[in-house]
Amino acid sequence: MASQTESLGHDSDKPRRIIVVGSSNVDFIMKMSRLPQRGETITNATFLQTFGGKGANQAYAAAQAGGEVYFVNCVGDDRYGPAIVENLQPVGVNTRFVFTSPGVASGTALVMIGGDGDNYLSVAPGANYELNRSHIDQVRALIADSAMIVLQCEILADTFDYVVELASQQRRPILLNLAPARAVTESSLQRVTYLILNESEAEFLCGFPIESFELAARAAESLRARGPRVVLITLGSQGVCLSSGGEAVHVPAFAVTAVDATAAGDSFCGALATCLVEDQPLIDAVRFASAAAAICVTRLGAQPSIPSRQETRQFLRDRSRP
Ligand code: RIB
Repeated sequence: MASQTESLGHDSDKPRRIIVVGSSNVDFIMKMSRLPQRGETITNATFLQTFGGKGANQAYAAAQAGGEVYFVNCVGDDRYGPAIVENLQPVGVNTRFVFTSPGVASGTALVMIGGDGDNYLSVAPGANYELNRSHIDQVRALIADSAMIVLQCEILADTFDYVVELASQQRRPILLNLAPARAVTESSLQRVTYLILNESEAEFLCGFPIESFELAARAAESLRARGPRVVLITLGSQGVCLSSGGEAVHVPAFAVTAVDATAAGDSFCGALATCLVEDQPLIDAVRFASAAAAICVTRLGAQPSIPSRQETRQFLRDRSRP
């Protein structure tokens, strides 16, 4: 049985490489004092164009947390494709396996943010849905030589299932962020090591609303029975429900003033992946990831909001002072 102090048990000479297979988007953001009602036009919004996509954000976050990260993705041959790649490189994400799909637009997201930081998103997947089995065959060796595969649900289900199959054949741990919520086969779920999802995604998989910590704990335990060794249900400002054997544990969130919740979950997942491949105890990894997500929420945009390892450590030090 796993425990809250569990780690992956690496030897020092084993690879610690993280492979993120997922989406990239250009995010077009409108920040408003409040979200419009149906048919209403808000005229005092602030506009920002940044880079996002759950896969790219998680690769960025894992690299910012200090991980060795490869990103596997498909961009379009429009003017955004090279910009998406160039934005990942300064933080150390290896983009050798970001493929370009001819005649297709790069992924695009429209993000509307209200005064309280809550967001509404609409995504046009574009080239993200061009990533296919033949691309994944080109990263077989990379997967075999990795410490963790990180997945989300903004790529085709067939590609997703193929990655899960290859990773599990090669006995690589899989961290799945089930976002946005999508049906996954029970056989894929069985092969997941770390499952991370929010309340609505947990409701989607479990069939009952997560209205309290007790219900989150029940959901997490029922999901663990379906395969994952560790289930983490993120509860926004209420923290995280962590189930890894025995009773589920509540990890409180850090109180911050929310500006934009976009990519908070991605910051959490990327930072968590890096801590886990470093063999940090699970509870410490979750605290670090929660701190990274808290910092992200205080800023506007996806990738520009994701903190570095040093910044997250400083935040944790500041918050541990009496
Ligand atoms: O998780 C946040 C991300 O979701 C945004 O960056 C947007 O691109 C969508 O993929």
